[in-house]
Amino acid sequence: MHPRILLAGAAVAAGLTSAAMAAEYKVGLIVPTSGTYAALGAEISNGFNLALEHFGSELGGDTISVLIEDEEASPQTGLAKARKLVLQDKVDVLAGIVSSGVLGAVRDFVHQSQTPLVVANAGNDEATGERCSPYVIRVSFSNQQINRPMGEWLAKQGVKRVYTLAADYSAGHQHIEAFSKAFTANGGEVVGGAFTPFGKTSDFAPYLAAAKAANPDAIYVFYAGGEAIAFVKQYDSFGLKQEIPLYSPGWLTSVAYVHVEGAAADGITTALNYVPTIDNPENKRFQEDYQAKHDRIGSEFAVQGYDAGRLIVEAVKAAGGDKDKLAQALREVRFTGPRGPLEIDPATNNVVQNIYVYTTEVEGDKATQEIKDVIEAVRDEPNGCVMS
Ligand code: PHB
Repeated sequence: MHPRILLAGAAVAAGLTSAAMAAEYKVGLIVPTSGTYAALGAEISNGFNLALEHFGSELGGDTISVLIEDEEASPQTGLAKARKLVLQDKVDVLAGIVSSGVLGAVRDFVHQSQTPLVVANAGNDEATGERCSPYVIRVSFSNQQINRPMGEWLAKQGVKRVYTLAADYSAGHQHIEAFSKAFTANGGEVVGGAFTPFGKTSDFAPYLAAAKAANPDAIYVFYAGGEAIAFVKQYDSFGLKQEIPLYSPGWLTSVAYVHVEGAAADGITTALNYVPTIDNPENKRFQEDYQAKHDRIGSEFAVQGYDAGRLIVEAVKAAGGDKDKLAQALREVRFTGPRGPLEIDPATNNVVQNIYVYTTEVEGDKATQEIKDVIEAVRDEPNGCVMS
């Protein structure tokens, strides 16, 4: 007899249905643990583990174990790690991924191997647009989901002429494109811009000089991790902070590293899917426990890891031990978490969520975020997604 049938037979003999059999789920978590985005990866892993602590007890007999690999923010490495986790380690589900470049590189492998992937950061628009897949479920954001509302918002503040700067890889291009489209559609003008070599630019002075020469009303940028810290400090020391206001998606002044930026980050207005000052019981529980464990405020990256972990727990519960049902179950989960209500849009598999516009205020060694506006339930158009 086939061993699987034998197993099912044994379960039936023991009075159990196959759905009641305990299953062991292996998660392959792919995050940067080195390089420009290392701090982001650490936050995501911490958040993910906290979710397993908070919600894992709801699993009955099922268990979840986690294997971590370094994506290095490199598409080639990220793909090699995804292949290793699925083919060698036999994980049931992948999670994590910080860089849009890595997400673009793993998408076809994930789709063809039918391995569910819960994206906990990378905003690559195509992954929930023209290259969408029933196996790619994103709980973080799409690049356009953050920048489109910010383009509209900034134009409505009366800002007319903007200069743009961003890291030169897929995410940087998508951020600036989405911002520019929304900003110009609402009456703004993009008067110039540049893309800086990703992970290799330590001196922003030539770019800041060009930005200043264009004489814009404001500068709009995309930088995260180590590059964000360098950029914010140099923007200040170059003297531009006093002259031209700086706007960006909120990773520029993430609480993961705003303490390193210090006073240079004071007064910068940005937009994001999470702010630590959100007032709801889920955020209170998350922040209290995160801070008790890590002695620092949990960032948006930690919340994305936390929500990815919770999504997997909820889907495992719903799949009732049947691993073939996991991908579909992941798409159907909805809950209110630290960032507010969230659900996965069945048309794209991208998360539907609030976007917060806020100003970072730094006093001494303390930073807080003052929420200026909440754009509720932001949802992307399908953008060419045909869910197969
Ligand atoms: C991305 O590559 O999609 C990306 C990376 C870092 C961020 C946001 C987006 O903070």
